[in-house]
Amino acid sequence: MPTTSPVVPTRDDIFALLRAVVDPELGADIVTLGMVPDVVISPADSTGGVDVTVWVKLTIGGCPLRAQIKKDVESRVALHPQVRNVRIEWGEMNSDERSEVMLKARWAARENAPDTEVSQSCRILAIASGKGGVGKSSVTVNVAAALAAQGFVVGVLDADIWGFSVPRLLGITDRLEAQAVEGSDRPKIMPNIVKVGAGELKVVSTGFLVNEDTALMWRGLILTKAVEQFLRDVAWGEMDYLIIDMPPGTGDVQMGLARMLPRTDLIIVTTPALAAQKVASRAADMARRSFLRVAGVIENMSSFTCDHGESYALFGVGGGQALADEIGVPLLGQVPLEPAVGAGGDAGMPVSLSPDGGAAAVVFRSIAQQIISDIAPPINMSGCSARMLAAVAAAFDKA
Ligand SMILES: Nc1ncnc2c1ncn2[C@@H]1O[C@H](COP(=O)(O)OP(=O)(O)OP(=O)(O)O)[C@@H](O)[C@H]1O
Ligand SMILES: [Mg+2]
Repeated sequence: MPTTSPVVPTRDDIFALLRAVVDPELGADIVTLGMVPDVVISPADSTGGVDVTVWVKLTIGGCPLRAQIKKDVESRVALHPQVRNVRIEWGEMNSDERSEVMLKARWAARENAPDTEVSQSCRILAIASGKGGVGKSSVTVNVAAALAAQGFVVGVLDADIWGFSVPRLLGITDRLEAQAVEGSDRPKIMPNIVKVGAGELKVVSTGFLVNEDTALMWRGLILTKAVEQFLRDVAWGEMDYLIIDMPPGTGDVQMGLARMLPRTDLIIVTTPALAAQKVASRAADMARRSFLRVAGVIENMSSFTCDHGESYALFGVGGGQALADEIGVPLLGQVPLEPAVGAGGDAGMPVSLSPDGGAAAVVFRSIAQQIISDIAPPINMSGCSARMLAAVAAAFDKA
């Protein structure tokens, strides 16, 4: 028996959700920029469900970012449990409105400047789970490496501050160094850079600051503060993707990310056991509460196939699909239980990079492909209003 009646969203609630939709070129959210002239909420149906219509004005009608803004508006507004359908009415700005938006963008850039060093054109994916040991770190390094192999610049942030494993999984031991950076009064931490094919990984972990033995000393450190510092004080530079390896079983880091980088998408890793799915759905709940979008589910440690070709479902079946269905997101892949995954980790060489890496490698590469083509396509900055913004900025600077 439900104890509370569903809460119908107000226009303010919808505007608050839309503040997570960033126009990556203009570097601010679409509400601040004045790109959302109106929101209309239908009367509630018998279950308290409503339809929401959002008016969005683009700087240029044919803006290549339209598809992305559409997807982001729909998925953010749908995060409210009472929203059934989201409709967008598109409009185009006239030249006066366009100049006003440029002014606002400049103002927002100044106001929000040093929030994080993660560029607005970078897609952020946090790899999370309801419980520990399900393979978050393995998924992080394998998917990041597979994305880099496609030619992308991919940041890897090990947010597991005292249980870090990324350095070992990528075979990196170099300490991080700080350097003076133009435009900043404080030195910035330089990430460790690993070339992968045509792309590269930019890797940051407390493991590069402390030895595995001294990690314990970091226990007193407030987790979210450390992650915040990594987002603020690392010279990340331009990146297509930032993949964050989340620590097990804590909501703190998720809340911190929701505050600092509300456009973060979560990918939830679960094992095939139906009991694990229940725990994992708690992670999705937490995401919903902090208004982060869950972009997909990965089932890890799926059936093990022995040398004779026989498959064994050691950890049960169906958990990944059940969780994906429950949240209403795609199941991005089922990574089989395969000794090569662990061996690749021990050798510091993600199995997704080895051409004969076996079935797990194939699944990791397919997940990367889905991220590129569907889940979080890279943001192409070459079109639209970015050049316009630069021109306006130049005009202002001359004045
Ligand atoms: N598909 C797989 N096949 C075989 N072994 C795997 C697979 N995925 C992960 N493992 C192994 O399981 C162990 C746990 O994996 P991993 O460290 O990636 O999990 P985690 O969720 O990051 O753990 P924690 O919660 O402690 O951070 C590791 O030893 C790893 O090598
Ligand atoms: Mg881990």
